[in-house]
Amino acid sequence: MKKTLHDNFFIRKTRIRNRICVPPMVCYHWTDGSGVVSDRHVEHYRAMAHGGAGLIIQEATCITREGRLADTQLGIWEDSQIDGLRRITEAVHAEGCPIFVQIHHAGIVGIEEHAFCPDTYILRRGGIEKHGVKMQEEDIARIQQAFIDAARRAYEAGYDGVELHGCHSYLMCQFLNHRINQRDDRYGIHPELFITEIVDGIRQIVSEDFVIGIRLGAFEPTLADGIRHAQALEAHGIDFLDISYGFTGEDEPVKPDDFPYKDIIYAAGEIKRRVSIPVFAVNGMRVAEDAHGVLERTGVDMVDIGRSTLVNPSWAADALAGRDTGRCLDCAVCQWRIDADQCAGRKLLRKKRQME
Ligand SMILES: Cc1cc2nc3c(=O)[nH]c(=O)nc-3n(C[C@H](O)[C@H](O)[C@H](O)COP(=O)(O)O)c2cc1C
Ligand code: SF4
Repeated sequence: MKKTLHDNFFIRKTRIRNRICVPPMVCYHWTDGSGVVSDRHVEHYRAMAHGGAGLIIQEATCITREGRLADTQLGIWEDSQIDGLRRITEAVHAEGCPIFVQIHHAGIVGIEEHAFCPDTYILRRGGIEKHGVKMQEEDIARIQQAFIDAARRAYEAGYDGVELHGCHSYLMCQFLNHRINQRDDRYGIHPELFITEIVDGIRQIVSEDFVIGIRLGAFEPTLADGIRHAQALEAHGIDFLDISYGFTGEDEPVKPDDFPYKDIIYAAGEIKRRVSIPVFAVNGMRVAEDAHGVLERTGVDMVDIGRSTLVNPSWAADALAGRDTGRCLDCAVCQWRIDADQCAGRKLLRKKRQME
């Protein structure tokens, strides 16, 4: 049956009210080193839920203080953070929208100088060279437990599920990509094992309806690897696959010349054809026609609208009603990250609406 943006569907018992998802997007500088939720976070997520999103996946929220990607990242590493997180889930649920939280560890890409990595990989970015600290078995067990504890906190805070951050160069993605992970033990021979053991641990401590999904790199380094990981995780009971980029610089993106959307959207479609769980696609969808086109062309179940929802928190409601949504203008440097009021897409939409 033809999918439309208006369709609702279920992941476990969570009802998703339409096919438009707000993907995780870190709000830099909205908290301090404590990682505790601020009033701004609550209002930000409330606004996007009020704006009609079918599902919100909360920004990368770190499972240990040492694993942060930025020193002002939201945290889920200690129980004292649960009350703040619950303020977000209550605000979003009051608007009839489900919410998952993306749980995250940055690994070698983190802020620590001596950061964990599955192997002795040397990261070279922006003229800087960083040597990963190879994780010993006891480090692996400790970080896996930190993911499981974070999921328990998410469950207690009222989230409908968690999304494991398994892409964008971060720790789980480092395990999956054989150009980074060349271990000769079971975590190298079975690259998904680090993740599947976490999934098993979470399943033991949450109720049956709690959703466990993953944001997964499609090119890790090749699409064939991405497909293999997706199938292995499906076989292990993961509930959904949110497909994005893998480890930057160690990936080989591909798409046919006549495919009109991003290479990872093509890859999401290829993965969808080979699994039976929900698959989400992301990147570069700006207006409703893009979202309709991606659903039709790829058969995925959900479209992630990222920066265009930062421009217009009611992007989903406007798209569903056939109104002008506004759009992200792909600025060379995203000003929203620094000051939302300076976002060029927001300013333009505001001006257009004043003139109507
Ligand atoms: C400000 C900002 C923060 C982001 N933070 C995250 C994050 O926490 N986790 C994640 O998986 N992706 C993150 N992303 C990537 C987005 O989820 C999304 O994949 C990307 O923006 C492409 O989609 P778009 O073209 O619809 O914006 C972030 C992107 C932006 C612009
Ligand atoms: S600042 Fe530019 S790139 Fe960032 S969300 Fe706004 S329009 Fe898009």
